[in-house]
Amino acid sequence: MDNQEYMFRRTPKKVEQIHTKNRVICTEIPAPGSMEIIERSIKYEPWSMNHQLYAVWDRAEDYTVYDKWGNKWIDLSSGIFVTNTGHGNPEMVEALRRMLDKPMLNSYYYFLEERSLLSEQIVKMAPEGMDKVFLLTTGAETTECALKLCRLHGIRRRADKLGMLSFAGAFHGKTMGAQTMAGKPASWRWIGNLDPCIYHLPCPTDAFESMDQIYDEERGRDAFLRDIENLEKSGVDLDTIAGAIFEPYQGWAALFYPIGYIKALREFLTERDALLVSDEVQAGWGRTGKLFGYEYYGVDVDLICCGKAISGALPLSAVLGRKELLDVDGSLNSTHGGSPLPCASALANLKYLEEHHLAEEAKRKEAILREKFAVMKARFPERIRAIHGMGLAFAAVIVKPGTKELDVELVDRVIERAFEKGVMSIRTMTGTIKVGPPLTIADDALEEAMDVLTESFGEIVSESAGER
Ligand SMILES: Cc1ncc(COP(=O)(O)O)c(C=O)c1O
Repeated sequence: MDNQEYMFRRTPKKVEQIHTKNRVICTEIPAPGSMEIIERSIKYEPWSMNHQLYAVWDRAEDYTVYDKWGNKWIDLSSGIFVTNTGHGNPEMVEALRRMLDKPMLNSYYYFLEERSLLSEQIVKMAPEGMDKVFLLTTGAETTECALKLCRLHGIRRRADKLGMLSFAGAFHGKTMGAQTMAGKPASWRWIGNLDPCIYHLPCPTDAFESMDQIYDEERGRDAFLRDIENLEKSGVDLDTIAGAIFEPYQGWAALFYPIGYIKALREFLTERDALLVSDEVQAGWGRTGKLFGYEYYGVDVDLICCGKAISGALPLSAVLGRKELLDVDGSLNSTHGGSPLPCASALANLKYLEEHHLAEEAKRKEAILREKFAVMKARFPERIRAIHGMGLAFAAVIVKPGTKELDVELVDRVIERAFEKGVMSIRTMTGTIKVGPPLTIADDALEEAMDVLTESFGEIVSESAGER
């Protein structure tokens, strides 16, 4: 185990007992009764499966999570950006029940009514021209698939048109192609022979500066022209570029790109008959206040990768694109892709999202997050360098005072304290306080949860000062 990270306290401790409409903490934390389960998981699973806050989830409804011992948390994570329509969405549960009652649990890729309806629903919601969808299981599979589709498109133009652009700091999943495209060199150690045709452009947004920077279109365009020129100077033939992949925001800090940069990238790709891929695995399906996060950039994309919230719970992911891009290769199918239960619940999930206008709801609730993060920043100006985000995906960048050194441990301690007070947020392990609640969260619960985060921040900062 080579982790240097802060270890959450694993022994139950007396904490303040809390009873509000949205939160209940009625045991020591971690709940003493949960320890047997936690220790069993730690014994049998890899360490990295077990570095979350020590809560044993027993039941989750809408924006709250319950354990078996009477504790109830407000969830600011959506089970990591999955449950946009709320945990245990009743319409999804009903759709699953119908499949269980048949029973219809596995069909390989024989025809299935629910799958056909889901594909139709996705295409109906997708941008005009995206008339096909390939169903898979995980987000990483979709970005791998997008890489392949860009290259299959490229090599029909010239045999060496294999180049793929991505960004430093990006994340696209943990399989080989996905992790190579992800711009995190520390995660490449196991790969050995890195794909020589995947090129990383520098991240054009400064996480330590205000988000206003993304609106300076001229600066964004200039930055792209400079970066692409540098790539060419490094010996890359730009005509061999087959595509580029970007997330509407980099997950760790809800970091959006300069709008002018993405516009210039789009123009560059169009001139070279290359494809633009939006990795919407995290940003898609209403999270940012638009159905797809790339809509903020005022560009068209050729392929959209979806995971997480497209299903709302069960494992299902999808690549969306034009017919001519998806009808290319006999290899586009997989054992669990488009499996019956995920299809049935994803269909109910997307209908719910559409009928309840949840993208618009996320945009409306953005104002609450903006205000609450502004209060937090005003209280801890030395600690919070910048706030980034749109809709219901926001992050505060936390540093050691007077530096640009991310304070990962402080963040861990803040979210641990908030957890003890009935709020579960996201552990990014990168020095950001990040929130992404279900889009259905009640306004008062969102406000309450943000107040608890700020209160926890204050306690940890003053305790750290006392320790010095
Ligand atoms: C932007 C993005 N792409 C891809 C992935 C990988 O998805 P999965 O974990 O389902 O493979 C993630 C997961 O966090 C993600 O945020």
